[in-house]
Amino acid sequence: MITWGISANSHDAALAVFDDNKLLFASHSERFSGNKNDADLCDSLINYASSHYGYPDEVVWYEKPWAKTLRQWRAGQGFNHRSNNIKRYLSQYDIKAPIKTMWHHESHAAAGYYTSKFQDAAVVVIDAIGEFETLTIWQGDGEKLRKVYSQGYPHSLGLWYSAMTQRCHLKPNEEEYILMGMAAYGDPNKLYFRIMDDFFDHKTGQLVTLKRNLHRGCLDWAPDLTVNDTFDIAAATQAVYEWQFEKIIREAKKLVKSKNLVIMGGCALNCLANPIAYKHFDNVWIMPNPGDAGSSIGSVLAHNKFRLDWTTANLGYNIEPNASIEEIVDYLDTNQICGVAQGRAEFGPRALGNRSLLADPRGDTIKDRVNDIKKRQQFRPFAPVILEELAHNYFDLCGDSSDHRYMQFISRCRHPELFPAIIHRDGTSRVQTVAKDGSRIRQLLEAWYDRTGCPLLLNTSLNIKGQPMVNDASDARAFEQHYNTKVFT
Ligand SMILES: [Fe+2]
Repeated sequence: MITWGISANSHDAALAVFDDNKLLFASHSERFSGNKNDADLCDSLINYASSHYGYPDEVVWYEKPWAKTLRQWRAGQGFNHRSNNIKRYLSQYDIKAPIKTMWHHESHAAAGYYTSKFQDAAVVVIDAIGEFETLTIWQGDGEKLRKVYSQGYPHSLGLWYSAMTQRCHLKPNEEEYILMGMAAYGDPNKLYFRIMDDFFDHKTGQLVTLKRNLHRGCLDWAPDLTVNDTFDIAAATQAVYEWQFEKIIREAKKLVKSKNLVIMGGCALNCLANPIAYKHFDNVWIMPNPGDAGSSIGSVLAHNKFRLDWTTANLGYNIEPNASIEEIVDYLDTNQICGVAQGRAEFGPRALGNRSLLADPRGDTIKDRVNDIKKRQQFRPFAPVILEELAHNYFDLCGDSSDHRYMQFISRCRHPELFPAIIHRDGTSRVQTVAKDGSRIRQLLEAWYDRTGCPLLLNTSLNIKGQPMVNDASDARAFEQHYNTKVFT
């Protein structure tokens, strides 16, 4: 039976295709439509999925539309019954299969727990909002997943972090990762207690209680601060988030007797805070796409309650490789920088080697050269991709080196002087390790190591500024022409 899991009609729409319990395909809509963070499905995605895998016998939707309508109405956002009519929404794309709906946080929790290798675990879901819930803790035991804590709107750590993102003149629900990058350039102490006191009520007994509703942001907060203080706001915001995050992790440890932790929801993308989890749990799993897009997979797992043997995030559009590994390494050795668009596109926010701009991480000029191509803020760091078995020699990793396959934790580099291009201002890197899995990026790293003695490369996503990651070969050619940079397909 073909089942489509769908997360859409909000932000960053995505589709996952299952044949019974086998995951065949998953992609963000933006990769097909070309509109970054596309909130809606698009015809080219639907055509690709239906022509390769067939139209669905059943659709599982990632949240409860009626409950969302009720919350929006209660929040004073009007009565949006029409826009939350999923049957009507899906019929625009000729999707007419029966629809099942799951709870928003249940989809997140299932996406995390059922893709983990754990037989039991505490599951923490932190996001902006799903229906009414903003923070939930679950107990995973065998095939069972039971909610043991729930916190409701408007008290939302995710909503607060997005509001602070907007306060730093960035796009909320999209540029939180830039706020994280800015944090290393500010002084967290200047505004830490002011933020803590202005936004959080600590006397309620709940894990997170906000003093104000942030659904419309907090641009009015401390307007006397100057533009130059933006980095200090970012630093204090991140420090306050980390304090709140640790409080939640401690509570999860108290509520669920397990050595294992799963973190999900958009906040699970906070790679600066995530290492804190290892202070309280032996093992940590974050599904590679922990935000709402990953709930396209999670909704189906929540509905059918089965374990998915997660082996790769390469689940999207396929580009059959033309160029050989040798050709790419030859080029990198001579020119230091090139793009690679081969194999199936990554499902999730990170390029992991199949839609990547790669560079030699050694030398002082590489960071500026890659920045010239990417045209992004100088304070934003680039990440390394490294042979997994050698990663501990170069980075102080939390947990096992295999926990770092999806760039979800920062680590301190042991030899920052050797690789200035992949070291952030605070001396850390967001490492991606690659196992001996025979993948193209593994073969490329091995060949690069043989050639140069350097086991890592700089890896950043292959996208034109303001656009989603390259999806197909014509996107790759467009990137090549736009930036006059070689892309191997
Ligand atoms: Fe969510």
